[in-house]
Amino acid sequence: MADNTLETLISRLRRFPDVEAANLQAWDATDKLLLDTAAGLLGPGSMPAVVGDRYGALTLGALTLESVSAAGAGAENHPVRVHQDLITGERALRHNAEALGITGGFEQLPLGAALLAGASVVLLQLPKSLAELEEIADAVARHAAPGVVLLAGGRVKHMSRGMNAVLERYFGTVQPQLARQKSRILLASGPRPATGAPPFPVIELNAELGLTVCARGAVFAGTGLDIGTRFLLDFLPRMPHARHAIDLGCGTGILAAMYARSNPDARVTATDQSAAAVDSAFATARANGLQDRIDVLQDDALSSLPQGSADLVLLNPPFHLGAAVHAGAGIKMIHAAGRVLAPGGELWTVFNSHLHYRPALERLIGPTREVGRNPKFTVTASTRKTAGA
Ligand SMILES: C[S@@+](CC[C@H](N)C(=O)[O-])C[C@H]1O[C@@H](n2cnc3c(N)ncnc32)[C@H](O)[C@@H]1O
Repeated sequence: MADNTLETLISRLRRFPDVEAANLQAWDATDKLLLDTAAGLLGPGSMPAVVGDRYGALTLGALTLESVSAAGAGAENHPVRVHQDLITGERALRHNAEALGITGGFEQLPLGAALLAGASVVLLQLPKSLAELEEIADAVARHAAPGVVLLAGGRVKHMSRGMNAVLERYFGTVQPQLARQKSRILLASGPRPATGAPPFPVIELNAELGLTVCARGAVFAGTGLDIGTRFLLDFLPRMPHARHAIDLGCGTGILAAMYARSNPDARVTATDQSAAAVDSAFATARANGLQDRIDVLQDDALSSLPQGSADLVLLNPPFHLGAAVHAGAGIKMIHAAGRVLAPGGELWTVFNSHLHYRPALERLIGPTREVGRNPKFTVTASTRKTAGA
């Protein structure tokens, strides 16, 4: 890295409150490559924006580079504007800034004009899906300065030609840079003028469910119906009638909408850690006339819901943490369901049968029965034990 201060800063970052483990770290070689490449572009008068910062490495790194360069020139900096889809990432950035004694200098904003207006350099950790990249590329081309340089970095093994193609639809020039430590940057410039409405959200009728599904670029499964979700929905008629049901990790909110529709007396909370997911779930609820009975909440594993406040939780858990396959994300959500369920309440969940969630369900919720199994998935219902049971 160009600068020792930057190296020290990055080495002190934590993932907290996201899952922490010995094999998971708060930064990667792509963050370092992006910062080294941006160093020459950040300085007095530059307007930096960051998209997809995981835990603060890019934002706090850009801030450090800016202050080094502005101190030399005796000039004021523009704040670093940042969008992170996950609330865990937003919280981790604030937590890391505080731990490092950095007060202010950055603004956390939704993806859109306030984030990108006039931006001269945009640092992007390439997302997993092309749809998410498309939404970001459109927003940068639409709102940033005409001279903007977009530095889109990723791990080489996760990059595809499709990413270049998406960027080429929105920028006149897309130049792959030399790889370093298995990371590479695509440098995009010359934004094409926007024609027509933004490509997201996509709104589509799912004929199988008779449900209109709305999806932002970053949401799980887009407007499609995940096969695990479809299997869980087969058991909808057998699920208990709850006063308050939660769709935990709601994505586009299909489970919330289908449950609310078949249980007209229930209040449903659709909640996810992803901003794109909760936007999508809100739009799905509204598109199906269910907005008065579905509350939408961006939160990390129900952290803001009171203990014992729900009688049913529906869960199709994730089995990835970022790019890594890791059971920790699912276990965290089972733990959260156990806290928020009232005694006697139930967690209905679907998972790949080879994932051994059963012991965690028994331990963190209570007695667990298998209600269905097909060649790929298992659906279980777990009843929250009463205190002391
Ligand atoms: C497998 S997807 C299921 C989405 C949706 N329920 C469906 O069935 O289509 C899992 C979802 O859990 C969300 N998620 C992962 N970890 C979470 C956490 N700690 N708190 C809230 N949501 C989380 C992800 O963002 C993702 O939308």
